[in-house]
Amino acid sequence: MSLKIAVIGAGGVGGYFGGRLAAAGHEVSLVARGEHLEALRRDGLTVTSVAGDFTVADARATDDTAEIGEVDFVLLGVKTWQLEPAIAALKPLIGSETAVITTQNGVDAPQQVADVVGREAVLPGAVEVIAFLDGPGRIRQIGGGKLTFAEWDNQPSARTESLRSALQDSGLTAVLARDVWTALWEKFLALASIGAIGTLTNSPYGALRARPAIRQLLEEAMTEVYQVGRAKGVQLEESVVAKEIAFIDQLPPEGTSSLQRDILAGRPSELEAWTGAVVRIGRETNTPTPVNNLLYQLAAAHQA
Ligand SMILES: NC(=O)c1ccc[n+]([C@@H]2O[C@H](COP(=O)([O-])OP(=O)(O)OC[C@H]3O[C@@H](n4cnc5c(N)ncnc54)[C@H](OP(=O)(O)O)[C@@H]3O)[C@@H](O)[C@H]2O)c1
Repeated sequence: MSLKIAVIGAGGVGGYFGGRLAAAGHEVSLVARGEHLEALRRDGLTVTSVAGDFTVADARATDDTAEIGEVDFVLLGVKTWQLEPAIAALKPLIGSETAVITTQNGVDAPQQVADVVGREAVLPGAVEVIAFLDGPGRIRQIGGGKLTFAEWDNQPSARTESLRSALQDSGLTAVLARDVWTALWEKFLALASIGAIGTLTNSPYGALRARPAIRQLLEEAMTEVYQVGRAKGVQLEESVVAKEIAFIDQLPPEGTSSLQRDILAGRPSELEAWTGAVVRIGRETNTPTPVNNLLYQLAAAHQA
């Protein structure tokens, strides 16, 4: 069955997932702007990928969601600090069965979207991919391609099933989470901690994890995120910290987080949605976060 899909923010995540779905025959509209939009209209979307290169020559692209109308799914592919105007543009896309899939790292995006369109229209999602905009109209993917998602209440539904099969049939990996909030927080716990520590030390994963004192700091930062998540009611196992340290141990030694790359390059970053959110939710739930407080203040000063 061909699905009607709108992608708001056709960058690394939106361009790669949207491109694969379009190449598989789904009716995908890319919401983009500037030179990227011009190139998409003129030349289509070109994807260079370790899973096989492809071009969507007749890519549908616009800067106006009203031109698209109601869709089955919206894939929200903007950065966390770009969410507000992107969410404001959702209205013309939403019908009674439409689902908006959040892909942002961090744990705030689903609620931010739900505040505008209602919980029943949101599928919280966590993405594993390494992909980026490689010039106007061009996406480069160098690893991964997996979306873990579920309905807000984790119950199975016809639309999560149709999304799962559409993703799988497009050459992507789709996982229906047993508890999508646990999945989001597990990723958040690892990423927020390594992101801030990597930024402050300007070091790649391999150098960070080789230093015992930094491993200890990482473990302390993650333990606070675990405690904040538990205080918020998220089903996290105590073993999650060891599990995520093991995850970091198998990342490429030369790798860095997007937070680190963005802050050190002087670009806007997702700091507020990562370590900033740990501190904020800690405060809201009366959970002490001294390590993350310090990491946040230092990284914010760096960014400023
Ligand atoms: N890339 C990855 O490998 C990856 C992996 C896992 C998770 N994530 C998460 O996924 C989210 C998206 O990251 P990303 O790396 O895909 O970001 P990205 O490459 O920067 O893509 C975002 C795109 O959205 C566009 N955009 C922003 N606001 C828009 C609007 N109102 N209308 C139209 N286009 C708009 C941006 O255009 P401008 O350039 O004009 O702003 C940009 O092209 C982040 O939360 C990130 O943490 C990313």
